[in-house]
Amino acid sequence: MTPPRDLDVIDLRSDTVTRPTPGMREAMARAPLGDDVIGDDPTVIALQERVAALLGTEAALFVPSGTMANLLALKSQTEPGDEVILHRESHVYYYETAGFAAVAGLSLRFIDSPDGRFGPGSIDPLVRPGDDHFPRTRLVEIENTHNRAGGVAWSVEDVARVSERARALGLRVHMDGARLWNACIARGVSPERFARHADTVSVCFSKGLGCPVGSALCGSRSTIARAHRTRKMLGGGMRQSGVLAGAALYALDHHLARLAEDHANARLLGERLSGVPGVTVNLANVQTNMVYFNVSGDASALCRRLGAQGVLAFDTGPSTIRAVCHLDVSRAQIERAAAVIARECAAQAVG
Ligand SMILES: Cc1ncc(COP(=O)(O)O)c(C=O)c1O
Repeated sequence: MTPPRDLDVIDLRSDTVTRPTPGMREAMARAPLGDDVIGDDPTVIALQERVAALLGTEAALFVPSGTMANLLALKSQTEPGDEVILHRESHVYYYETAGFAAVAGLSLRFIDSPDGRFGPGSIDPLVRPGDDHFPRTRLVEIENTHNRAGGVAWSVEDVARVSERARALGLRVHMDGARLWNACIARGVSPERFARHADTVSVCFSKGLGCPVGSALCGSRSTIARAHRTRKMLGGGMRQSGVLAGAALYALDHHLARLAEDHANARLLGERLSGVPGVTVNLANVQTNMVYFNVSGDASALCRRLGAQGVLAFDTGPSTIRAVCHLDVSRAQIERAAAVIARECAAQAVG
């Protein structure tokens, strides 16, 4: 529901809703530009080199979205008819319009677990026998942080164990790291520590880092060369995209460390909501910038009522609501949002 215009809107729908800050806009305006399809946009080149260095990979490719980065990762490391093992609640399966099937021609096999993480033992039973009746199992996908599990961050050790087993089975590993930056802050490790256990990693600049557009796919030179060709095929070749890469470079300088504030805000919101009658929050899964909570009534009706009070959040199930903390919400706004949610939950319980 659109809130009345005079309300100070607290938009917790996603960390993608952030607007570029004045400093970021300035960096975009100042960015030296070329034509990235021809390959001479200096700001895109600088961003790709910076991200590859951060993740310790040979190469990185700037792409319009996390969806495209994941699709390119899959398509660059498989053949049509191959199969990918991934969590049932993964973003690739849930929210990426089945590009894995429509564009990459892939089949999926699912791992179930309560919080998006899984152990090496989950892989073996899902690997197909080497027989012409079956698809060829090719790749394991890990989502870090895991969105639908509530922003849960994998540990480096857990990623390493899964990756070691996958590689022993001859499988590649892709990490959907749309929020890898959050995982790094939550776990106190560098992106490189995670990336060394994957063949490809996608990262996003347009979520917690606050950019208007942009993601990157990182990996070996040969995989990124394949991804580069497919990016063009999918219409993802962008020309003076240095204006966007300039925002990403600015964000890496100014918005990385502050993700800890979003995590503290999510913790605060989770704790406040866990004390509200009729609301349940699994605080163990509130590890980064997201809070998923269950309500006793109809979640979509509650979201409409919250919207009318200037608090925007998404219902992600009949009784589940997601609130995401980001650059454009302050601690004071989180306190206010918690109070509004508590009031509306109480009203819904009565009404
Ligand atoms: C875990 C995860 N992967 C990938 C994506 C896709 O990113 P985009 O919206 O840039 O396509 C998202 C988007 O929220 C996400 O949460």
